[in-house]
Amino acid sequence: MHAPSIRTPQFIQLQIQSDEALRAELTAGLLAREAYTSPKYLYDALGSRLFEAITELPEYYPTRTEAAIFSAHMAEIATRLPAGATLVDLGAGNCEKAARLFDALQPVRYVAVDISVDFLQGALQSLQRQYPGLDMLGIGMDFSASLALPSQVGDGRRVLFYPGSSIGNFTTPQALSLLKQVRAACLGGGLLIGVDLVKPHAVLEPAYDDALGVTAAFNKNLLLHINQIIGSDFQVQDWAHQAFFNEADSRIEMHLQALRDVTVTWPGGMRSFRQQERIHTENSCKYTVAGFEDLLRAAGFGAVQRWQDAQGWFAVFWAQA
Ligand code: AVI
Repeated sequence: MHAPSIRTPQFIQLQIQSDEALRAELTAGLLAREAYTSPKYLYDALGSRLFEAITELPEYYPTRTEAAIFSAHMAEIATRLPAGATLVDLGAGNCEKAARLFDALQPVRYVAVDISVDFLQGALQSLQRQYPGLDMLGIGMDFSASLALPSQVGDGRRVLFYPGSSIGNFTTPQALSLLKQVRAACLGGGLLIGVDLVKPHAVLEPAYDDALGVTAAFNKNLLLHINQIIGSDFQVQDWAHQAFFNEADSRIEMHLQALRDVTVTWPGGMRSFRQQERIHTENSCKYTVAGFEDLLRAAGFGAVQRWQDAQGWFAVFWAQA
């Protein structure tokens, strides 16, 4: 007699940017006339925890608004999506959002993608206990540069899942390039994506500058992460958090602003900042429905369905590849 087979998640770590490449990327941004850093550096271990705390803040509406859209429309969403597809979760983190889709979508395989497999190990192992028959694969890769999924993902139809309006953290040209790659990766399936929409400043700005100062801590923690990567001597107390809606570019911008004249040094380099000079640390683009549908079309997607909350603050799109 054979014991019933118990699946175990498989893990693959694709190329990680070398320390040298990370240092080169960071120092190039710090030395630019208008200093900037990629938002990916906001997410070291502490930054990821601070982001989780942000999602629970009363001011940060996107996470709970998106969750409410999914709970209200899950049955209809499930009828639009192909059954028995491979569900590919981009930026899976703790895998919670995708797990809420399993019962309705009944995927044949779940593929969690995040920058490092280390983030996925615990979450996938506990999900596998809840869904022992579901094939699970964890992939560590930085898909923001290129979305070349390995062959182990299989060649069945795919539903790519990109929730949380993470697409907003790319500039529009970068978002278009990623969406084109996503469309190709769907193999005839489609994309289920959560997108934050344009709304009054009075709602947008507190979401990125909350009363408790959690987003400020999230932004300033970047300096500690940079210190760790390039060996610099940023002092957190020299910097203030700034977040505002840039109407012309339809995006929230986060910056760190020098509170006094500051000189930062690191092995092989230095940068002086005048008082009030800034480092641009993140964009969070806010779309109109029509603007995002245009972007999906420009990326080559076909028919699009959309679900929204009653206030029209956030939208979930299903776009056929
Ligand atoms: C992850 N991303 C969608 C968040 C956002 O809203 O742009 C990151 C964030 N930055 C500050 N608060 C939250």
